[in-house]
Order: sequence, then structure tokens, then C-alpha cells
Amino acid sequence: MKRRPELIPLSKEHHESLVLAKKCQHIAAAGKHGDIELLCQQIVHTFPGKWEQHFRSEETGIFSLAEACGGEMAILCGQLRQEHDRLREIHRAMKGGDCSGLNAFGELLQTHTRKEERELFPLLEASFSDEQLRLATAKHRPQRPASPSGK
Ligand SMILES: [Fe+2]
Repeated sequence: MKRRPELIPLSKEHHESLVLAKKCQHIAAAGKHGDIELLCQQIVHTFPGKWEQHFRSEETGIFSLAEACGGEMAILCGQLRQEHDRLREIHRAMKGGDCSGLNAFGELLQTHTRKEERELFPLLEASFSDEQLRLATAKHRPQRPASPSGK
């Protein structure tokens, strides 16, 4: 599917989130405690700089734009906001040492990301001009690449 250029940075991050989502489900299913803990630690470490930033950017940008139209798009964005909050909750639990939500995190991240790509983005593309989308995504800062030092 061809994306409007304004949405491409978010779409690229969605590709990364789908990779992470599959990894979460795979590692959780394998059931090795050390691997589960390590992946949870990685998520705790990268969440603020990557996913929290991505979520906030969507909430203050494209969701706000879409919600102003009301109707189907506002309902969809309400669901997407709730899913962001659930992912934040699971992240907070991981931060507190509870890794039991790894599979749920992966499953929700996958369905949530697909909902944005397959439902929200086509609606945005059909409803808004290039300029409206440019303004709604102007504050989005692409995610920092992961570095081994964590800096
Ligand atoms: Fe997203």
C-alpha cells in the first residue's frame, strides 16, 4: 500500500513495532525465564525514547486531527488511545520487575499497530489534505536508533 509521505516516518516505526511484537510473542511462548527477563529489560530501556515518544506524537498529532472530525475516526482514536494506555501499564509492570505481561504486550502491540496501519491511516489519507497531515505530523521526531551503550 502506498503511504502519503507525511505518514511514512510513523509507518516505518510501525514496521519496527511489528518486529518487536512478534519477538515478544515468540520469546514468551518459548518460556525461557532468562530470555523473557532480558527482553523485558530491553523494552523497559527503550520504551521512553521510542514507544512513548511515538504514542505521544500520534496522540497530539494525528489522533487530535482525526478526533476533531468526530464519528468513526473519533471512536477509532479513542480505542487506540486506550490501547496506548494499556501498553504503558504493561511497561510500568515490567519496570517493576513483573514480566508476566510480555505475551500480552506483544499481542496488543501487533493488533494495535495493524489497526493504525489498516484502519486509521487509510481514513486519514482519504479525509485530510497534504498540508493538514504535514501539520499533524510536524512535531514527530523520528526515533533514536538503538545503541549498545543505551545513550
Ligand atoms: Fe503507532
